[in-house]
Amino acid sequence: MSDTATLHFPPDFVWGVATSSYQIEGATTTDGRGPSIWDTFSATPGMVAGGGTGEVACDHYRRWGHDIDLMARLGIGAYRFSVAWPRVIPQGTGAVEQRGLDFYDRLVDALLERGITPYATLYHWDLPQPLQDAGGWPERDIVDAFVAYADAVTARLGDRVAAYATLNEPWCSAFLGYSVGQHAPGLTDPALGLQAAHHLLLAHGSALEVMRANAPAAKHGIVLNLIPAYPASEAPEDAAAARRFDGFFNRWYLDPILRGRYPEDVWEGYGDIVPEVRDGDLARIAAPIDFLGVNYYSRAVMAHDPSAPWPGFRQLPFDTPPTDMGWEVYPQGLTDLLLRVQRDYAPPPLYVTENGAAYPDILVDGAVDDTLRVAYFEQHIAALDAAILQGVDVRGYFAWSLMDNFEWQHGYGMRFGLVHVDYETQVRTPKRSAAWYARLIERTRAAAAVTR
Ligand code: FCB
Repeated sequence: MSDTATLHFPPDFVWGVATSSYQIEGATTTDGRGPSIWDTFSATPGMVAGGGTGEVACDHYRRWGHDIDLMARLGIGAYRFSVAWPRVIPQGTGAVEQRGLDFYDRLVDALLERGITPYATLYHWDLPQPLQDAGGWPERDIVDAFVAYADAVTARLGDRVAAYATLNEPWCSAFLGYSVGQHAPGLTDPALGLQAAHHLLLAHGSALEVMRANAPAAKHGIVLNLIPAYPASEAPEDAAAARRFDGFFNRWYLDPILRGRYPEDVWEGYGDIVPEVRDGDLARIAAPIDFLGVNYYSRAVMAHDPSAPWPGFRQLPFDTPPTDMGWEVYPQGLTDLLLRVQRDYAPPPLYVTENGAAYPDILVDGAVDDTLRVAYFEQHIAALDAAILQGVDVRGYFAWSLMDNFEWQHGYGMRFGLVHVDYETQVRTPKRSAAWYARLIERTRAAAAVTR
């Protein structure tokens, strides 16, 4: 049990859990839902480990009431979920499917009834397949399609949702989806990836106006995955490699959103594959946001690699035990990252919108003793506390994830949940980490009540 007496979270700090639609909902053809790029990708042999698909996943589309009760029992204060575009506008553009909206409408009301604050993400990677058939994110028309979708969702859910994020991790949608093909739609063209990234950012900035008009009391922002980069040695080449990684991964998104321009060094590095950017695009992308969501899992240690194409880096191996994803456990990276974002960008209030770890959990006699995950959370929440103590304005923390779920190209092999899911029976079993998190929330609330 962590010593919460040494933590300093303010009384109104938000303690939440996160999930996303495709990873948990299942019911991929129910109530008029159209196909998404992840249905297509996961049905393609060889793309997802073990042949997993989101067809059933955690069956959350039917079991949502039970899942919300579970959150309420754990004392979770906020729930970050995503809305599936193919449920709301099955063809990507055109007719709105009311039954799809009804689902999220009921979910939001049920959360509020149980005192859990809804945080919604509009796009967590499940693009309607018809939009991909028309070219997907590299096609500029998709921006208008996204704005219409954002309008439909925010008009229905309105101010009942406390905060809307336009996108989750545009780097993944663009780079993993279009440049290297590890995610849907599985394309491998770096120029397409950069054009996709530009249209994702433009869609984000363009949707904010209608979102604010529909939900004036809600906060509106975006969620980025950021990885702090450290040089492998004191050699200037390694410092330059770390800087290039930072440019490619972090600044390419942070700079347009928070400064209204692409980072020049990265733009030059890309040479002739830079995206087409029209007059006025960057001003739209840099439209003010009320919060920035930061997803943090690990860090990168970079060495210069002259044989690699631009940005020319190689990630160094590490000698501490990795998580199942092969990621290094490096809590200090969260403190460093938050301090850096605060220092370099003077951002709006921050939220840690995802943080967590996959470990090989085993269910024994109805319990999962996931001590490694407890340690991961303990260390990262302490690292967050350290950043707040040093003046970073962080308002909330969302554990990834409420429950084990479909982990994209890794299928069902990676378990990130506070709650174990038996995919045969759909039985949910809170792990030791769930009890630990519940206790942390309870104790920080109690401590806050005393100091109030
Ligand atoms: C993030 C994604 C989330 C989940 C975690 C492990 O990149 O946003 O859906 O897959 O990683």
